[in-house]
Order: sequence, then C-alpha cells, then structure tokens
Amino acid sequence: MSSFNLSVDANHQNGNAKNASDSSSFTVEDIDDFDFSKLLEKPRPLNIDRLRSLDERSLTELAGSPQLRNADFSNAPRVHDHSDYVISPSVGGGRRSGFNTPRSLPGFESHPMVGEAWDALRRSMVYFRGQPVGTIAAVDNSEEKLNYDQVFVRDFVPSALAFLMNGEPDIVKNFILKTLRLQSWEKKIDRFQLGEGVMPASFKVFHDPVRNHETLIADFGESAIGRVAPVDSGFWWIILLRAYTKSTGDSSLADMPECQKGIRLILSLCLSEGFDTFPTLLCADGCCMIDRRMGVYGYPIEIQALFFMALRCALLLLKHDGEGKEMVEQIVKRLHALSYHMRSYFWLDSKQLNDIYRYKTEEYSHTAVNKFNVIPDSLPEWVFDFMPPHGGFFIGNVSPARMDFRWFALGNCIAILSSLATPEQSTAIMDLIESRWEELVGEMPLKVCYPAIESHEWRIVTGCDPKNTRWSYHNGGSWPVLLWLLTAACIKTGRPQIARRAIEVAEARLHKDHWPEYYDGKVGRYVGKQSRKNQTWSIAGYLVAKMMLEDPSHVGMVSLEEDKQMKPVMRRSNSWTC
Ligand code: GLC
Repeated sequence: MSSFNLSVDANHQNGNAKNASDSSSFTVEDIDDFDFSKLLEKPRPLNIDRLRSLDERSLTELAGSPQLRNADFSNAPRVHDHSDYVISPSVGGGRRSGFNTPRSLPGFESHPMVGEAWDALRRSMVYFRGQPVGTIAAVDNSEEKLNYDQVFVRDFVPSALAFLMNGEPDIVKNFILKTLRLQSWEKKIDRFQLGEGVMPASFKVFHDPVRNHETLIADFGESAIGRVAPVDSGFWWIILLRAYTKSTGDSSLADMPECQKGIRLILSLCLSEGFDTFPTLLCADGCCMIDRRMGVYGYPIEIQALFFMALRCALLLLKHDGEGKEMVEQIVKRLHALSYHMRSYFWLDSKQLNDIYRYKTEEYSHTAVNKFNVIPDSLPEWVFDFMPPHGGFFIGNVSPARMDFRWFALGNCIAILSSLATPEQSTAIMDLIESRWEELVGEMPLKVCYPAIESHEWRIVTGCDPKNTRWSYHNGGSWPVLLWLLTAACIKTGRPQIARRAIEVAEARLHKDHWPEYYDGKVGRYVGKQSRKNQTWSIAGYLVAKMMLEDPSHVGMVSLEEDKQMKPVMRRSNSWTC
C-alpha cells in the first residue's frame, strides 16, 4: 500500500532546542516528599503522581542505581554533524543511550525474557542521520511489510516509556521533535487539506542512495487503509511530552515555542466550536488503535479517554501566558464538561444497566431521563451476564439512540490513569476485570474489546472485513501491548497482584511465540491469523509492565491524580455517587 506523497526534507529541520526558553516557568506539578513506606500499604490506591521526584531520579543516583548495569556504549547514537538534537545539560540524558538491560532491584527476580526483550527492542530502533528517532512497528521479514516497517506514533509510546524508564531519553526527545516537524508539513488527501495540527500516524526514513541523503516520509492517513487521519496520534504526542518532562525533570523541551505551538495546534482541532451538542469528540471509524472499520465511529471511548488525558497533560505543559492562557481557559471548561458527560452517560454498572433496561422512550424536554432516547430493546443479551454485581466500566460509545455496550481495554485503562474515572469507578473497572478474568485476560492479556461481533452484525458493522473476523485482531483479539496499560492501571488502583497474574500468563507464551502482535480466540489461545511476529509494542509493552511492577514510581509518567474540582456528578441511579 505504501505510496507516500509527503516528504520532509530534513535539511529544513532546524535545531529547535536552541530556542528553548528558560526553565523558570516549569509548569509540571511541584513535587513534594514522598514516603516510600506508603508503597507497602495495600490496597489503597497509590498517589503515583507524587512518587517520582526529580531529586529521586537525578542522574547521579541513576548512574549508581543497581537498576542499571555498567554502561555499554556499543548501542550509543552514531556520531552526527547536525545540530538538530541538543541535549539539555540539566538532563544529561544524552549520555545515557546505550545502557544495557537494567538489572532488577533487590528482591525482584528478573525473568530471562527481559534481556531478550531489550535486545529485540534495540533491534527495532530507527536512525535518521545518525540519531535514533523511533522504533519500527514490527521486525518481521516473513510477512509482507505493508506499513509495519514504519515508526507509528501510537506504537512508539510503550517503546518511549521503556527508554525513559531505563534512563535513555534521547530517542524520545528526538522522536518528539521529528514528529513536531512533520506536523508543520502541508497535508492533503486528494485535493482536500487536513487541519494544521494533525500529527502523522507513522513515518519512515527514506534513504536516497544516489544523493546519499536521508529524508523523512510521513503518512497522515492519506496512505493508510481506509484513508482516516489518526485522531489519537496528537493526543499520544502530548501525553508523551508530559511523560518525558515528568521523567527527566527537563521542562526545556516542552517550553520551546515550537512545542507550545504544537500542543495548541493539536488541541485547536478539538476545541473549536461547531455544531456539537456534546463535549465528546466526534470521530470517523478507524481513527485510533482500531484503525479499521469496527463500528467505533461517533464518540469512541478510546478517543474520549485519550482526549481527556491529553487535555490534562496540556494544562501541565502549556505556559499560562498569551495564547497559552486563552487555551488553558478553554481546556478547563472542556474538562469539566467532558468529565461530567463521560461519568454520567458512558458509565455502566449493574444499577445503571437496570435503569436503562427500564427506560421510558420518546421523552421530550429538559426533564427527560433517557436523554438520548436509547431503546431498551437495543440492550444486547451478553451484557446482562457480563456485568458482575460489583464492577462497572465505561462503555464503547454513546450517541443519539445508540449505546455501544462493548468493553474496550485501552479506553478504560486510560480513564483510570487520567482520573477520568473517579476512584470508585476505577475500583469498579478493576473489579470487573477480576470477575471477568477468563473473558478479558484468559490465556493472553488483554482483549482489545469484548465481546466479538459475529455473523450478520459482523457483515454490517465491519463491512465483511476478513481480518476482523470474530475473536480475531480488533474484533475481540488479545493484544499483548495492552499489558502495560493494564499494569499501570493496577498499580494506580493499588492492585499490583492483578498485573502480576497477567504478566505471568503472558510470560508463558510471548517469547516462545516470537512476540506476536495479537492472539485470536475466545480466550486468546492462538497466535493471530495475520499477526506479525516481533511486534515492537508487544515487546516494549512487556518491558514497561515489568519495570513498573519493579518500581511503581514509574507509573507517575503516565498517571494523573484526581482533580478534586472535577467533582463526580450525582447520578439518578446513585450507585457510585459521593
Ligand atoms: C495495526 C494496528 C494499529 C497499529 C499498527 C502498527 O494497524 O491496528 O493500532 O498502530 O498496526 O502496529
């Protein structure tokens, strides 16, 4: 498929870091002392966001940390003569690339797979003019490449977290700057121009052997199957920028005028006023991790949760001056409306399910209880059995007369990490995962969504997609990459034992099966029909999960504490109010 028509001449990519403003306007939360004995108190949720302080992760300490083996510079970045990448001396991260597999903390036994995973992750690294700029989606030469030879923005996130956790921020910084340059490129599909803020789904390095010259080529959706722009890429970019800042303590990258503008451009696409009557974001099918037609068009939970998280990260990263201030005000308003909407209308537990089951329809005016006119007959049979007495989840989608009751892993985990879910809802999501272990974890964590759609419904919803047949790929397949999100959510809710169990399940097969992209079947027993091997985010997801369990403070990179001002709403069913 890969017919690229956009290219960026890297000669035009200037040394952005030179413009870095001073760090006096450090916008990431102030960090106070943390009592590590709290980590032992279970099962209270951990105040992860405050665990990781700059002091705790200082270079000197990291250098002497038992977590890191002696430096092995064989993988260090190749020498380069470009000023594209200026490593902030305050981070010192530049010197950290090339560290080998981290050694386990005392008391933790490293699994032999960890070393193998690091080697595989390093093999996936992509270089541009001598600098590491990302990781390829899959190192699998046995299958047709399609676009798996590219650096996907969403796929790079777990790789980036692994590198950050291992004290190697260079590749992450380079990736952030490179994708930022791609954002500024003019994007067109046929004769239609895309919004300025759109971030690419993926990019690759093109080497011109004649000129001996490297350029970057990006795909904003114009080459992707289905031709849909990735709404999630921009959100992941902001989330990653915050993770980088949090992990390194280096705010100079986020403070760069270019990065500030990048954040504003991404969010302008989502915050502009229009015909919307809901604060959620209206999307086309296939605009996220599920990048094919799967009936997630409308207001998919994955995008809403990422949107919420990106808005909260942007609040921490944006300078509150000039244009930034204006956007901050917009963000605050949207966050309030979005959390109210999501917590009220996307949340489903047994009480709410019963309320919907008894809904009256055709109500008019402000007093309507069934605001979206959901017809109780549209409730699918499976949801009554699936819903445990204790537990709940954010459903897949809510729009006029349409509730998609499917459970989606990514959206629910991000809802926990971003605190879109209240503490009670977060606990309920974890309760549900425990109660429905067979269905959601089974023999390979974790189901991308549950349940699969079959037969006639599959024909209508997927358009007879042969890749998304029942219990395969995006249609109820099991994706090892989701392990890192599950683990982070477990740690945040104070239930690391759930993550430990899931990791053990994965360890029984992942390496032996050569790190597949996904597994098929009701319990995830079979390597996926068209699954790639050596899929990088399966590898990185495992590493990130392991590192977070060993050192829960890492979760702070991808977790935000509850904002007390966003009070949970009083709901009619009163099943989880406070
Ligand atoms: C598939 C997945 C998508 C992923 C890509 C590269 O298209 O659906 O989420 O980013 O592969 O791994």
